[in-house]
Amino acid sequence: MKGKHIILGITGGIAAYKSASLLRLFVKAGAEVQVVMTPNAKEFITPVTLSALSGKPVVSEFFSANTGEWHSHVDLGLWADAMVIAPATASSIAKMANGVADNMLITTYLSAKAPVFIAPAMDLDMMAHPSTTRNLNLLQSYGNHIIEAECGVLASHLIGKGRMAEPEQIFETLQSFFNSRSDLQGKKVVITAGPTHEAIDPVRFIGNYSTGKMGYAIADEAARRGADVTVISGPVAIKPSQSNIKIVDVTSARQMLDATMAATADADIVVLAAAVADYAPAQVAQSKIKREKTDEMNLLLVRNPDIAASVGAAKTANQFLVGFALETDHERDNAVGKMKRKNLDMIVLNSLRNPGAGFGTDTNLIEIFTSDGNSQSYPLKSKREVAADILDAIVKQISMR
Ligand code: C5P
Repeated sequence: MKGKHIILGITGGIAAYKSASLLRLFVKAGAEVQVVMTPNAKEFITPVTLSALSGKPVVSEFFSANTGEWHSHVDLGLWADAMVIAPATASSIAKMANGVADNMLITTYLSAKAPVFIAPAMDLDMMAHPSTTRNLNLLQSYGNHIIEAECGVLASHLIGKGRMAEPEQIFETLQSFFNSRSDLQGKKVVITAGPTHEAIDPVRFIGNYSTGKMGYAIADEAARRGADVTVISGPVAIKPSQSNIKIVDVTSARQMLDATMAATADADIVVLAAAVADYAPAQVAQSKIKREKTDEMNLLLVRNPDIAASVGAAKTANQFLVGFALETDHERDNAVGKMKRKNLDMIVLNSLRNPGAGFGTDTNLIEIFTSDGNSQSYPLKSKREVAADILDAIVKQISMR
C-alpha cells in the first residue's frame, strides 16, 4: 500500500461517514489519497474533514470556484493506481454503468486507467431492484471489482442487504489486490526509453519522434509491481508517475550504451524500448556550422552501436531480455529475426501500419513473440494496459524456465 496513489470516490449516501475511516486506513498504510466527491456527498460528510485527513484539497467540481482552475479528470485517472468508490449509491452506480458523466466523480471514473473497486450502499429494496443488479453486472463486465454490500440494519431501520462493506474489509480488499500484483518484488528491471540525439554541431542533432511513453509506461507498471526500476532515458519531455524509479539521463546512443551496460550487469529483466538512432555524424563540429553558399551539404554518418545486441551478447543465464520492433513490412519475420540476432528472449512488435500504434500515441497495438516460437496478438489498448500485458508475458515466460 505504501506509496500507492488511490482515488477515493464518495457519493451521497449515509455510509459516507465511514469513508473518513477508510481514508484514514489508506493514509496510515502510506498511500496517497485524492478524494473526489459528488455534490450530494457533501450533505453527508464535509470536504474539510476529508481534506484534513488526506492532506489534499478535495475535488468535487470541474472547476475551482475561486480560481477557475480546471480539475483534470484525465490526469487524475492516469495518476491513480486504484480507484475506490465507497459508498456507491444506486444513482452513481447507474451513471457509471451507462457513462452519464454529469459530475467530476463520474468523469474521473470514465477516465480511470487503474483498477476500480465499487462498494455499493443503499436500502434493501434499491439493492434488490433489477436495475441495480443489471448495473452492477454491467460494471463487473467492464472489469470493475464489486465489494459486496452486507446484510444488517440499514439507515431506514429495516434489516436486509445494502450496508456498505466495513472500511477494514474494503482496505483489505485493496491490500490483497496490491499484494497479488507484487509479482516483480525483488527483481531489478532496466528499461531503455525515448529517442537518442546525435549531435551535428552545438545547436543541431539527428533525432526521431520517440516520446518515451511506452518505455515509461513499462517502468511505472514494473515499479507498481514491486520491481527495482532503472530507466536509461534519452531526451524526453515526460516523467515517471511512480516516485521510486531511478532515471539515468543520456543524450546519444554511445552514452545510452555505456549507461545500459553499467546498469544491466546485475539486472533480472532488461526492456529495450528506446528508439536508438542508427547513425551518428562521424564528427561533431565544435562551433555552429555556417550555411554554405552551395545548395548541398554532405554529412558523413557512421553506424551507432546496437545496444540490444550488446546486452544480448553479455546476457547471463538468469537474465530476460525484451526488445521492440517497429516495422513497416515483413513485420513478423523481421521481428523474429531481430529477436534471434540480438539474443533476446522476447520481442514486442508494433506495426506502423496500425493507427493508434507507435510514436507519440497513448495507445498501442502489439504482438508478442517469444524465443520458444510462440506468439500472441493483443487488441488496441492504452500504453498502461499494454505495459501490464508485456510484464504479464515476461513473468509467465520466467516462471516456465
Ligand atoms: O532498430 P531496431 O529495429 O533494430 O530495434 C530493435 C530493438 O533493438 C529495439 O528494442 C531497440 O530498442 C533496440 N536497439 C538498440 N540499439 C540500437 C538499435 C536498436 O538497443 N542501436
